[in-house]
Amino acid sequence: MSFINLFELEKLAEAKLEKIAFDYYSSGAHDEITLRDNREAFNKIKIHYKVLVDVSKRDTATEIFGQKISFPLIIAPTAFHKMACKEGECATAQAAKEAGTIMCLSTLSNTKVEDVSRSSEGNFWFQLYVFRDKSVTEKLVRRVEKAGAKTLVVTVDAPLLGTRERDVRNQFQLPKGLSVINLLPDNKEELPDDKPDSGLALYFNEMLDQSLNWKDIEWLASITKLPIILKGIVRPDDALRAIDCGAKGIVVSNHGGRQLDTSPATIEVLPTIADAVNDRIEILMDGGIRRGTDIIKAIALGAKAVLMGRPVLWGLAHNGYEGVCDVLSLMKKEFDLAMALSGCASVEEIQRDLVSLK
Ligand code: FNR
Ligand code: LAC
Repeated sequence: MSFINLFELEKLAEAKLEKIAFDYYSSGAHDEITLRDNREAFNKIKIHYKVLVDVSKRDTATEIFGQKISFPLIIAPTAFHKMACKEGECATAQAAKEAGTIMCLSTLSNTKVEDVSRSSEGNFWFQLYVFRDKSVTEKLVRRVEKAGAKTLVVTVDAPLLGTRERDVRNQFQLPKGLSVINLLPDNKEELPDDKPDSGLALYFNEMLDQSLNWKDIEWLASITKLPIILKGIVRPDDALRAIDCGAKGIVVSNHGGRQLDTSPATIEVLPTIADAVNDRIEILMDGGIRRGTDIIKAIALGAKAVLMGRPVLWGLAHNGYEGVCDVLSLMKKEFDLAMALSGCASVEEIQRDLVSLK
C-alpha cells in the first residue's frame, strides 16, 4: 500500500487527477464550512476506552437491512467514477464485493446499472434522484429493481444543487465520452455547456423535481417493494416523518457539505435523531468518515453503519480497483484496532457510554 492514511491518499489522488475532476470531487458548497465541520466535529469527540476486556477474538461484522457486511462501512453514492479511472463504477463495485461490503450506486453514474449489478454479483444499493418526469423516475426504479438492487436510497437534501464555487469557476463539464448513462435514450445524457456555470448544476436543476415532498415518498413506497432509505436528514422531526412515510431507514447526511453550507456537522446531530427514532428504523450516517475511530463514534452515537464518499474516489484515482480495495482494507484495519483499544470485541459492544461529546 503506498499510503498510510486517507489524508496522504488524497494528496496522491490530487496529483493524478485533472484539476476539474479533483475540484468537483473534493469541493463543498460556498465557504465549505460544513465540509470542514464534518471532520472537526469528529475530532472533538473523545473515546472513553475500557480496559482489561478480552479482545483476543474480535468480530467487526454487522448486519444492515438483513444483509451481513464485514465491517460497518458502506460506499456512499458519488457521481461520475469514470473521471477517476476508466473502469469507473464497476471497479468500485468489485472492490466493495471483495471487502465484504456494499456499494451504493449513484443515479448520476457513468456506468449502466446492469453492468454494476454484474460487477457486484447483484449485491448493490441504488441512490435515486427523482426526476421532474415521474414516468422517467418510475422506469428507472423498475430498471434497478430488475438489476437486483437491494435498497433504494432516495436523496432528499438536493431540490437544487448546492453551489460549489470551484465548479462554477471551472465551468465543470464531464470529459468527452462520459455521460449520465443511466437515463433512458429519450432523456438527456449530456451535461449542457452554457457558460459561465457548472454544467452539472444546470443539468441537475433542469432535470430534477424541485417539488419533491413527503407525498412523493409515499408514492415511491407504493410503487416499489424495495426498502426506501431517505438520505440527507439532519433533524429529528424529519426522521420521524420518514418513519411515517414508510421509509425503512435514513442516512443522517448533509451530502458531505456540498449542499447547504453552515448546515450542522452530521455526527453532532446523530444522537438526538437516534433518540427520536428509538430503534424503529435503521440509521446510517455519513460526512467526514476518515478514520476507524470515526466509525466507532458514529456507532456509539446511534448509527448502524456509516457511508464514506470521497476517499473511495481517491482510491479509484490512485490505483483503480486495487486502490479502492486498499481504502476499504485500511478502514477495516483501523476500525478493528480501534475496537480492540476501546475494549469492544464486537460491534454490539460499542455503546453510547463509550464516547463523550465535549
Ligand atoms: C456526492 N454525494 C452524492 N450523494 C448522492 O446522494 N448522490 C450523488 O450522486 C452524490 N454525488 C456525490 C459526488 C461527489 C464527488 C461527492 C464527494 C459526494 C454525497 C455522498 O453520497 C456522501 O453523502 C458524502 O460524500 C459523504 O461525505 P464524505 O465521506 O465524502 O466526507
Ligand atoms: C453532487 C451530486 C451529484 O454532490 O449529488 O455532486
